[in-house]
Amino acid sequence: MSHEPGNVFHRVLDRPLPRAVRSQGVWIETEDGRRFLDASGGAVVVNVGHGRKEIADAVAAQLGTLTYVHPTMFTSTPLEELARALAAHAPQGLSRFYFMSSGSEAVETAIKFARQVHLARGNPERHLLIARWNSYHGLTLGALAAAGRTPFRLPFYPMLRDAVHLPAPYCLRCSYGLRFPSCRLRCALAIEETIRCLGPGAVSAFIGETVGGASIAVLPPPPGYWPLVREICDRNGVLLIMDEVMCGMGRTGRWFAAEHYGASPDILVLGKGLSGGTIALSAVAVREEHVETVRRTAGNFAHGGTFSHNVTACAAGLAAVRLLERERLVERAAGLGARLGARLREELAPHPNVGDIRGLGMMWGIEFVRERETLAPFPRAEKLTERLWQHLFDHGVITYKSVGMAAGEGDGLIVAPPFVITEEEIELVIAGLKDALQAVLGR
Ligand SMILES: Cc1ncc(COP(=O)(O)O)c(C=O)c1O
Repeated sequence: MSHEPGNVFHRVLDRPLPRAVRSQGVWIETEDGRRFLDASGGAVVVNVGHGRKEIADAVAAQLGTLTYVHPTMFTSTPLEELARALAAHAPQGLSRFYFMSSGSEAVETAIKFARQVHLARGNPERHLLIARWNSYHGLTLGALAAAGRTPFRLPFYPMLRDAVHLPAPYCLRCSYGLRFPSCRLRCALAIEETIRCLGPGAVSAFIGETVGGASIAVLPPPPGYWPLVREICDRNGVLLIMDEVMCGMGRTGRWFAAEHYGASPDILVLGKGLSGGTIALSAVAVREEHVETVRRTAGNFAHGGTFSHNVTACAAGLAAVRLLERERLVERAAGLGARLGARLREELAPHPNVGDIRGLGMMWGIEFVRERETLAPFPRAEKLTERLWQHLFDHGVITYKSVGMAAGEGDGLIVAPPFVITEEEIELVIAGLKDALQAVLGR
């Protein structure tokens, strides 16, 4: 552990970080010889496992063959092949892929593309974005305006051209005080009401994470939510953007989470696991008809990206997709992920401070409550999540923090390991979680 400040402007400024030197499978090793079980794949990124030689070989071969070409000057084989490979798995109708470097950039791309489709259709008044609370869409100002994550937004709030935010389909703490299914999906119906209140023809797009992620300790929506949102968007000329930066690329046990819900968006946003968590790579998948509309009227999509459609990143992405296919890792995420969920429920659900365990595939969230009967959260000031996370980390288990889901209060942890995790390693994660609860909460 280095205590020298050094020259790096780190993400965390309040503590020194251990220096990682090696990673393989689900394990990360530090220079002082400690081993960490990466039970969250970092920020829910590593899907095919750490240290995959196939990706390293593909990147090395690419860098030795063709290094960089500008995306407005050349196409390349890894780029064409990755787009083709993804199209074979994508939800119906999504056949064209625009590649970027981060999830945030891909969200910006999605928002701008939606706007440009409306411009091309002769609807310049459509510019508003509807999004949801308890969501995350990225760090850039446009994506941050879409995100419904207050602590990240507040410092920059005066600078945001804000989206209109509505409640997430968060049945545990329904904003309308209703219960599913007698609620008739009030949270989805609110989208239509809002579109109409904002004025006919004013809304460009609705954006939501297909399965909620970092800001809500994982949230699979109730059945019927996405088909109803799709219907509402269609009825009102609004484009539907589904953000699968976290929940795409096999994470939920299907190639794309939208498949679980029988709804196909106009724009699907991908990132994180797209390159297996190796090289920075993200994408938006869009419909041919929309690309054609823009091409016919504007000629080109008014956008940019020095590192868009990057040949080396695409080589990494293609190798990751081939690994997912060849090793049937999406199927493994479904099968072993169900076991992970079942074990979490068996071992942790009886704990008096566990309010909910939810998820699917290899994406699970645990929400902690002070009191189970009322679901009263711990005050955020107690930093329960941080203390649990630190105990786990100090004992060699990496999870991902999720806080603030209960109107600013609320604590959770995300467990979302690489799909190659074994049953024995799952047991180590469960034991670590139980130990952390005992150490921090005394039960
Ligand atoms: C759903 C979702 N969208 C977008 C982003 C932003 O991606 P990035 O951090 O790669 O810019 C994230 C990152 O956590 C995310 O979870």
